[in-house]
Amino acid sequence: MESKNQMDRRSFVKKASVTAISFAVGASLWGCSKKEKKESPKAQEASASQPTGHREAMVSQADAMAMVTKFEAAGVMDMGHPGKWKGKEGSHIPRVTLHKGEGAITLFTKHPMSKKHWITAHYLKDQNGNLIGFQLYEGTDPEARHRFEIPKGTTRITAYSHCNKHGDWKAEDTKLG
Ligand SMILES: [Fe+2]
Repeated sequence: MESKNQMDRRSFVKKASVTAISFAVGASLWGCSKKEKKESPKAQEASASQPTGHREAMVSQADAMAMVTKFEAAGVMDMGHPGKWKGKEGSHIPRVTLHKGEGAITLFTKHPMSKKHWITAHYLKDQNGNLIGFQLYEGTDPEARHRFEIPKGTTRITAYSHCNKHGDWKAEDTKLG
C-alpha cells in the first residue's frame, strides 16, 4: 500500500510531467542561424518569452513533430474541406496577424477554452513544409493565442490549429514580406 504522501507525490509528478510538455517552443530557437545562436542568454530568454497569458516552457522539436504527425494522420481540414465538421470552420481555423517589421506573427483561434473541449495547439510551417513554431495550450488557458517569431528567410507560412474534439485545421497560406 502506498502512503498518502507517496500517492500525492506520484500525482504531483504526473501532473508536472504533463505541464512540462504543455508549453511553447520558441520558433527562434529552431530556425536560427549559427550567428543568432550566439545571442546572449538574456537575449534568448527575452525572445522566448511572450506576453500571452499562458505559462511557457520548452518542448523539443522532436516531440512537437511527433504531435504534428499524429494530428495530421487523422486528417487536416480547411475552409473548403471541413469534412464532417462543416459549420465549424470559423471557430477552428486560426487567424493570422502579421507584425510587420518585427519578424513575428500572432495566431488566434476564436474557440471556447474548457477542460473538456479546447484548442490544444497552434503550429506553423514554412514554404518548404518545415515546422517553424509550435505552441500547446491547456483547457484552463483563457484563449488560444500566441505570438511566434518567424525565422529569417521565411517567405510563406501555413498556420494550423488543433482542437481535441474537432481535429486539425489549417488557414490559407500567408505570404510574408
Ligand atoms: Fe472544437
